[in-house]
Amino acid sequence: MSVPNAPQGAQHNRAPGSGAGDLDASAQVVIRYADPQDAGAMLEIFNREVAQTISSWEWFALSEEDWRAWIHEHTKDDHVLLVAESSGRVVGFSGYGTFRTKAGYVSTAEDSVFLDESFRGHGVGKRLLARLLDEARARQIHVMVAAITSENLVSIGLHQALGFEQVGYLPQVGHKFGRWLDLVLLQITLDNRPTP
Ligand SMILES: CC(C)(COP(=O)(O)OP(=O)(O)OC[C@H]1O[C@@H](n2cnc3c(N)ncnc32)[C@H](O)[C@@H]1OP(=O)(O)O)[C@@H](O)C(=O)NCCC(=O)NCCS
Repeated sequence: MSVPNAPQGAQHNRAPGSGAGDLDASAQVVIRYADPQDAGAMLEIFNREVAQTISSWEWFALSEEDWRAWIHEHTKDDHVLLVAESSGRVVGFSGYGTFRTKAGYVSTAEDSVFLDESFRGHGVGKRLLARLLDEARARQIHVMVAAITSENLVSIGLHQALGFEQVGYLPQVGHKFGRWLDLVLLQITLDNRPTP
């Protein structure tokens, strides 16, 4: 299989806490549960990242069938998939799915959060992830894990802002666009129940 050779792509690059979160755009965005008809807009957002950036380690655009499977994974059982909607348009999504498949991992989940480029840097990602954590907590998820490319400082910053702590660093466990990628693992404990 040949390696794609696309540009890395830009991420918004403002200083954390610089106040962009109060822009009107964020206020007009509604966070709600995903509907089946949102699939196409979500796939478009995701596949743009696949083609242009290292935020996803997929090399090739997902097909509609691939995406149906992704959505199933993120809505089956008690999993939750949310979208951000602005003026009737889906501009982002967050969801959690299986962390690892063995039974003992059932109280742990792994999150995803992706936004249309034009809506980044205005606090929408933070709202999507904060709501997802609330939804997960309400469903007895004990730990949420995030696995993020080490270069993705915005996503790492977003997760840390919501209480995630770095618990692992895996150098060169992936590659894309012809270079090695390091993976940062972060987690947050969502409740303090002493037993499962
Ligand atoms: C990552 C992503 C979801 C963040 O959403 P966003 O709406 O752009 O981020 P927000 O404006 O909500 O910022 C949330 C927090 O992230 C942190 N952050 C934002 N920009 C940052 C930067 N340049 N460096 C470090 N932290 C940053 C801040 O803590 C910020 O909170 P604050 O505004 O209270 O300081 C969005 O940028 C995105 O979709 N990126 C491309 C896809 C992607 O990388 N997905 C994650 C894959 S793991």
